[in-house]
Amino acid sequence: MNPNKMAAAPTPDAAATTVESLSHDGRGVAHVGGKAVFIEGALPGEEVRFRYLNRRRRYDNGAALEILSPGPDRVPPPCPHFGACGGCSLQHLRPEAQIRAKQQALAEQLRGIGKVQPESWLAPVTGPAWGYRRRARLGARFVPKNGGVLVGFRARRRSFIANLDACPVLEPRISGLLPQLRALVAALSCPDRIPQIEVAVGADAAALVFRHLVPLADRDLELLRAFGARHTVQIHLQGGGPESVRALWPDEAPALFYRLPEHDIKIYFRPTDFIQINDQVNRQAVAQAIALLDPGPRDTALDLFCGLGNFTLPLARRVQGVLGIEAEPGLVEGARRNAAANGVANAEFRAANLYDAVSAAPPWGDLRFDKLLLDPPRSGAIEAIKLLPSPGPERIVYISCYPVTLARDSEYLVHARGYRLAAAGVMDMFPHTSHVESMAMFVRE
Ligand SMILES: C[S@@+](CC[C@H](N)C(=O)[O-])C[C@H]1O[C@@H](n2cnc3c(N)ncnc32)[C@H](O)[C@@H]1O
Repeated sequence: MNPNKMAAAPTPDAAATTVESLSHDGRGVAHVGGKAVFIEGALPGEEVRFRYLNRRRRYDNGAALEILSPGPDRVPPPCPHFGACGGCSLQHLRPEAQIRAKQQALAEQLRGIGKVQPESWLAPVTGPAWGYRRRARLGARFVPKNGGVLVGFRARRRSFIANLDACPVLEPRISGLLPQLRALVAALSCPDRIPQIEVAVGADAAALVFRHLVPLADRDLELLRAFGARHTVQIHLQGGGPESVRALWPDEAPALFYRLPEHDIKIYFRPTDFIQINDQVNRQAVAQAIALLDPGPRDTALDLFCGLGNFTLPLARRVQGVLGIEAEPGLVEGARRNAAANGVANAEFRAANLYDAVSAAPPWGDLRFDKLLLDPPRSGAIEAIKLLPSPGPERIVYISCYPVTLARDSEYLVHARGYRLAAAGVMDMFPHTSHVESMAMFVRE
């Protein structure tokens, strides 16, 4: 028979395979008939039966149906929402193995994209694996056919909200309130017009910020105040853009803050401001960054993407002077207030867009500095790094939330600017997620 005329065999919807490695987003990677397949819920070394979710030209996506032989690092995921909720992707992997996988991902990106290898590896920075999330954005959806309101993180594969009764990675004070929050939103006059609730937890108080798309009725305000009073949680309302947030309960809501006790610093923040998610890991990250920068009393330092001064103010305690640069004017104002509140007189803050590579003059002007700290968003810091003077600062500490851009920027620092990548390591800022936070130290040759 002419083989071209043969009917194509139907593609099976399920198959069994052995998982070879873990992808950077926490899925098991296997090959079936030579084609890569990324399998949710599967771990390296395991034999699994999986179903195809979709097929692409160069790879397929699947989800594990049955673990035929579990790998040595598999553990039962403690959260009943694991798998459905998009918040965590690695609860089924032993925490130490999660950290190993993150270090491996970092090493691969540095080698592959950056063409660099750290001279030494820093010990991983770790903190509590549960109850660590002090900032979160919860979604809310009114689903009348289910008889109510869902509150939680986005579901893993869909745009739905995974309805959570509790969340073991969320600060316990807030996790314990999830069922009551659902009931509260359902009791408001506009349950379908409250798309999100932001969570912020400080050392002494916690806050919830309700985004509302229509004006709230007096009775709604009463319900929200009563909720705040009953659960001792500040209630804030956001009727429009970020600057519209206002406190509802208590009348005089005290400012939230967290402490950096080793440096005798308190960082005050508004409930929607950026703060590092994991308090314990942040404290260690600040200590490690400062130890690596090795600041002396005659040094000057620059802190790019400085936010509220989380690294700037501890650095100010150790150097002659430090300049922090940040795009968001509200955070720059907050950083200045934090400097004043902590009696720090040698830190200056400036607002500037550090991705604006077109500007001929760098936003730090002609300031010369000995030490540089970088803590950019996922897009990295290449634009700012390219504006560095020559010779550049003696030491650079780079805190990264995305190894791909850290690797790209390392390639430039090492191969174009003559720095050594003296050390690098991961920080477990977001246990049970595939998010890789890391720190790298560059030393001028
Ligand atoms: C990862 S956060 C770090 C903040 C601070 N270092 C901390 O530890 O809290 C990144 C910061 O970069 C700021 N940012 C984002 N885009 C920026 C830009 N184009 N120019 C300057 N800063 C920017 C954000 O507002 C945010 O404060």
